[in-house]
Amino acid sequence: MDQVATLRSMTRQDQVSRDLHAPVRVIAVTSGKGGVGKTIVVANLAISLSRLGQRVLLFDANLSLGNIDVLLGLTPGRTLGDVLAGRARLQEILVQGPEGIQILPATSGAQELSALTEEQRAGLLTEVDQLDGTADVLLVDTGAGVSSNVLYFTVAAQEIIVVVSPEPTSMADAYALMKILSMRHAERSFKLLVNSARSAAEGMEVYRNLVKMVDRSLDVSISYLGHIPADDHVTMAVRRQRAVVDLYPRSPAARNFAEVARTLLDDAPVVLPKGNIQFFWQRLVRGNETGESVNR
Ligand SMILES: Nc1ncnc2c1ncn2[C@@H]1O[C@H](COP(=O)(O)OP(=O)(O)O)[C@@H](O)[C@H]1O
Ligand SMILES: [Mg+2]
Repeated sequence: MDQVATLRSMTRQDQVSRDLHAPVRVIAVTSGKGGVGKTIVVANLAISLSRLGQRVLLFDANLSLGNIDVLLGLTPGRTLGDVLAGRARLQEILVQGPEGIQILPATSGAQELSALTEEQRAGLLTEVDQLDGTADVLLVDTGAGVSSNVLYFTVAAQEIIVVVSPEPTSMADAYALMKILSMRHAERSFKLLVNSARSAAEGMEVYRNLVKMVDRSLDVSISYLGHIPADDHVTMAVRRQRAVVDLYPRSPAARNFAEVARTLLDDAPVVLPKGNIQFFWQRLVRGNETGESVNR
């Protein structure tokens, strides 16, 4: 027993020192409009990235209902709120998801995180330090819209995936979101993922149209991550509280999630903008000037 425990802790220490300097990509998944599939994307992309050898941590910053835990049939016990209150360690609140992914249940929003006492901030940053080296990718489900909460988590991340569906309302809202992020927060680059497309051609058309809209008035660049088809397997998987890539790995949606995960890995920035994972957390706990009320 003792030997096993010693061995385990040695392996863990090896792991920690091996990964100490590995950069972590902090990627926010956001959208203008709600219900376009952000949470679906986050969950399935996480598993697909994990299959490509990435260690993935999900940060659920979505304050509304219908979260990742429900989608994946998980029951989180404690949340970030318990860490802030000193009732739990960060490591203890992590929920083990399918295929090795880990979920960090937030429930605390921008308001709580930017209004911490000095002691709470220091405590949280120390906790976060211990998370470093345990993940290659931190995927953040920000929730929908342009509320200060959504912008707060989006601006703190290094990379931004905008999820859009082919509906004009979704495209208009995605445009509005990118406009605010570029004009008020100097965000210059976005990755676009078209969800619920009827075909690859439709996905590409949505991308081209958004680029056209953006080129007329904004100083930003958008790269195309690809599309996820509208696929009944997604809905069927939702009903069974499983990820579609897990339950129906050969479905059209699952295949495209795998493809998008590969594109995302190929598209890794050479030098990560905006620092590392600590920087993300520092921005969160210091507040990142998203402003009190953000209106379109
Ligand atoms: N590619 C898709 N094909 C079919 N249905 C989808 C697809 N993506 C999302 N959906 C449906 O849309 C619903 C909302 O997705 P969700 O990820 O919860 O949206 P959001 O997080 O953006 O509010 C899902 O429960 C699912 O039924
Ligand atoms: Mg959601």
